[in-house]
Amino acid sequence: MTRLRLGVLVSGRGSNLQALIDAAADPAFPAEMAIVVSNVADAPALDRARQAGIATCTLPHRDFASRADFDAAVDRALAEAGVGLVCLAGFMRLLTPGFVDRWHDRMVNIHPSLLPAFKGLHPQQQALDAGVRVSGCTVHFVRNAMDAGPIIVQAVVAVLPHDSADILADRILAAEHAAYPLAVRLIAEGRVRVEAERVVVEGADWSAGPLLLPRT
Ligand code: GRF
Repeated sequence: MTRLRLGVLVSGRGSNLQALIDAAADPAFPAEMAIVVSNVADAPALDRARQAGIATCTLPHRDFASRADFDAAVDRALAEAGVGLVCLAGFMRLLTPGFVDRWHDRMVNIHPSLLPAFKGLHPQQQALDAGVRVSGCTVHFVRNAMDAGPIIVQAVVAVLPHDSADILADRILAAEHAAYPLAVRLIAEGRVRVEAERVVVEGADWSAGPLLLPRT
């Protein structure tokens, strides 16, 4: 089996990176870690990668004259590592249209809301402010608009009456750690295709009861 080579872009904590590292540690997982790229030199995510023996590349964005120059350096690092799929995992830089187009349908992102609801910053607080009963996370292909693009996987969690944004974020994060490896696996197995900007997944089990909240 040839495994899909992952390039993970990070800026911070790296818990989603860890979920991908853990999934890829299973030789039966159809993707492998090729490189972790960070724009933040002291990102804890880099330590996670080093600890797992994964190649890392640090590209402090301030060292580059323009966004295009920075993105070109990222692109080079990914190409040199033979990356087939780019995973954004808490990567806090906007990417140039040229870079996004180059990785069309080969770059995914995870966002802690049920997109298209609550794009942008503080989606957990946005969910609390809106009074929704459920929220969750979304893994999607990246397009040239923030937190937009064909949806691959979503996971749903309850929003409880006394949730703070932090508590809700933790609940969503646990769902993220299952959703991201699932999305990567489906792509690596060649079961994902984009048709008219919607994702079709081959051979998936869609059976699920309704999640009704609140229950009494
Ligand atoms: C996650 O909530 C992810 O959905 C968002 O940024 C956060 C990154 O967390 N895009 P981590 O660095 O993976 O722990």
